[in-house]
Formats: sequence, C-alpha cells, structure tokens
Amino acid sequence: MTKKILIVSSSLRGGSNSEILAREASRGASDAGHMVEFVSLKEKEIKFCIGCLSCQKTHKCVLKDDMADLIGKVQNADVIIFATPIYYYEMSGQLKTFLDRCNPLYPLENKFKDVYLITSAYDRSENAADRAINGLKGWIECFEQSRFAGCLVGGGVDAPKSALSREDLLKKAYEMGKNI
Ligand SMILES: Cc1cc2nc3c(=O)[nH]c(=O)nc-3n(C[C@H](O)[C@H](O)[C@H](O)COP(=O)(O)O)c2cc1C
Repeated sequence: MTKKILIVSSSLRGGSNSEILAREASRGASDAGHMVEFVSLKEKEIKFCIGCLSCQKTHKCVLKDDMADLIGKVQNADVIIFATPIYYYEMSGQLKTFLDRCNPLYPLENKFKDVYLITSAYDRSENAADRAINGLKGWIECFEQSRFAGCLVGGGVDAPKSALSREDLLKKAYEMGKNI
C-alpha cells in the first residue's frame, strides 16, 4: 500500500550527517513506491511553544511562523521519520521545539501511525541515542494511534559529510525507508 511519508530533518548545519542518512531513507521509501515529502528545518522559523494552551480549543497556534505549514504536513502523513543530531545525549533542541509545537494536534484525531528516528553522533555506542529515543517515545505516547517503529543509531560520525563514507549506515537508512 502506498503511504504518505514525511521526513523531518532537524540538523541546521551544512553537510549534516543525520540529513544524509535521512535522504537515504527517503530514497528507500521512494523506491518502495511511497510518496515522500522531505522537510529540513534549516531556514525555517519555529518559535518556542509559550504554553498558552489556546491551541487546545482553537486547534491553531497563536504564534505566526513556519510551523503552521509544517503542522499541516504532519496531519497529512501516514508515517513520520524524524532525523536529529545527538546533542548532549539528547535530541536536538530544534526537534524538541518542533514536537512541542505540534501541540495543536493533541486534542485531534490524527492519522500518522509509524514514527521512526534517525540519529547521528560522534559516539559509537549503541545506547548513544537512548535518551533521544525515550524523549520521542514520550511524544508518541500522547498520540494514541501512533507507535514507535524503530531507530537508526548513526554512531561514529562527527565531521560534516562523514556519513557519506559509512556504507553500513547508508545501507541501514535505505533499508529503513524501503521496509516501511
Ligand atoms: C552542541 C553539540 C553537542 C553534541 N553532543 C554530542 C553527544 O552528547 N554525544 C555525541 O556522541 N556527539 C555529540 N555531538 C556530535 C554530533 O552529534 C555529531 O557531530 C553528529 O554527526 C552531528 O549530526 P549532524 O551532522 O546531522 O548535525 C554534539 C555536537 C554538538 C554541536
């Protein structure tokens, strides 16, 4: 079955490793026949959630920025892949802000189901992304139709573009997309 897949890449730097892996996942998903939309948070204006909760009644955010458009993409998706660099053993602040700003969706019926994570980190250990996974699982738990579908832990990549020479990670990312 063809699915609508939204990929949200949250690294803001050029030559982003997590974005390189996310693009491989995109290629795999396209090859599998899915409809893929790739969004980078570079040059997007996404303010912090101010916690006013007016979105719980109006289903709209009082803040005027790029999130209005992005939240529509989340609503349209069947599957979401988030990509983040590991910062201090957590997800990037920009991804956390994106997740917080999805609060207008909290009282609604949503269709996105499988949610994946792609990470990149200097650290090679398999548990380097554990806190980021845990944080994302907290968000997923708040959307009952949704489930955590898997994480690619991209370890041992630090300098920009270093993921390009990591055949193992590129293959895993491609397979993630292909097997959705
Ligand atoms: C502010 C900051 C914090 C970081 N913290 C960690 C860390 O806790 N563990 C780690 O292994 N790498 C850490 N790194 C390295 C990045 O995770 C690594 O360079 C990654 O490949 C960056 O992904 P990107 O190219 O997609 O931005 C940190 C980098 C920055 C800039």
